Amino acid sequence: MFSKMEIYTTFGLPASADSYLVINDEIQLRKLLSSGQLSDSFFILGGGSNVVFTKHFPGTIVHLDNKGIRLLGVDSTSGDYLVEAAAGEVWDDFVHYCISNGWYGLENLVAIPGTVGAAPVQNVGAYGKEAKDSIFRVRTFEISTGHERIFTNEECQFAYRNSVFKEPLKNRYIIWSVVFRLSSVFRPDLHYKALSEALYSAGIEQPSPQQMADAISKIRWGKLPRPEEMGSAGSFFKNPVVPVDHYLKLKASYPDMVAYPVPGGYKLAAGWLIEHAGWKGRAMGRCGVYEKQALVLVNLGGCSGDEVLALAEAVTADVRAQFGVSLEKEAIII
Ligand code: EPU
Repeated sequence: MFSKMEIYTTFGLPASADSYLVINDEIQLRKLLSSGQLSDSFFILGGGSNVVFTKHFPGTIVHLDNKGIRLLGVDSTSGDYLVEAAAGEVWDDFVHYCISNGWYGLENLVAIPGTVGAAPVQNVGAYGKEAKDSIFRVRTFEISTGHERIFTNEECQFAYRNSVFKEPLKNRYIIWSVVFRLSSVFRPDLHYKALSEALYSAGIEQPSPQQMADAISKIRWGKLPRPEEMGSAGSFFKNPVVPVDHYLKLKASYPDMVAYPVPGGYKLAAGWLIEHAGWKGRAMGRCGVYEKQALVLVNLGGCSGDEVLALAEAVTADVRAQFGVSLEKEAIII
C-alpha cells in the first residue's frame, strides 16, 4: 500500500495521490520504466503551474526533477547555439541563464512559472513569442518500451497552447530534455503592443536583453498573481477562435471587443469576454476570477476542487449565453 502524498501545484488545492515519485537522473527513470509501475494510472508533474488537482489522484505522480544545462554546439553557418536543458530545470531560471550567457530568443518568455519539460507540452507563450519558435528538438522516453525517442520541432506538431504531447500522444512519452536553437545576436521582438508601449514610456528605444526581460516581468506581474502570493494556474481558459461571420456579428454588437485575425477566423480575448460577462473580480465560495485579469481563476484561500469546477462552469455558461462562444480550459484538470 502507498501512503497518500500531498501534491504541490501553484493553485494550492489540497490534492493527494496514492504514490509520489521524484526522479532525478536517467538511471532512476530507466528503472521506473522497466518496473512497469506506469502501466497503471500515472501523471507526470513538472512545476505544477498548469494543473489543477480537484480530487485525490488514484495512481502514481512522477515529479521530474532532473537538472543540467549544456551548450551542445554552435552552428557554423548561422552562429546559432544549440543548448540542451533538462526537463526538471525551472523555466524562468533557464531563460535568465540563457540571457546572461548571450544566448538569445527566449527573452519574451521570462517569468513564466513551470519547468523546461512542461514548456513543449502546451507550447508556452507570451508577449508575441511561443516556445516553438526556439525549440529545436525534444528528447523523450517512451513509457511502454523505455526506448529513447527524439522529436524534431516539426514532429512536436506545435500549435497555440498545444502539441503532440498534449494530444494525440498524451501519456505516451516522458520529456527528459529539450534542445533550443538560440541566437548569438539579440533581436528584440517588440511587436506586442503593451511591451513596446512600456519601453517607450520608460524612454528606451533599443532595449538591452536585460531591459527587455525586466519590462516583460513587470507587465506580467502587473496582471498575473505571483504563485507565492495567490494560488492560480495562470490562464485558466484558452483564447477561443470563432469563424469570421460569428466574429462580425459580435463586433457589430460589441465594437470594442478585442480580437485578432488568425487562419480560419478570429481569436477572441477570453479575458475580455469573461470581464464583459460580468465576472472579473467576482467569486463563488473561495475561488475567484482575478480582479486584474479575468482569464485567471484564483484560490482566495482554502479553495476546494469542487469550487474551482463550479466557478469555471458558471463563467463558461455565462460567456456561452451572452456571446455564443464556448470556452476551452487551458489548465489540465485532474
Ligand atoms: N482583456 C480584458 N479583460 C481582462 C483580460 C484581458 O479586456 O480581464 C483584454 C486586454 O485588454 C487585451 C486582451 O484582452 O486587450 C489580451 O489580454 P492580455 O494581453 O493580458 O493577454 P491574454 O490573451 O489575456 C495571453 C496568454 C497569457 C500571456 C498573455 C501575454 C493565453 C490563454 N494566455 O493572455 O498566458 O501571458 O497572453 O502574451 O493565451 C498562460 O498561458 O498561463 C498565460 C498567462
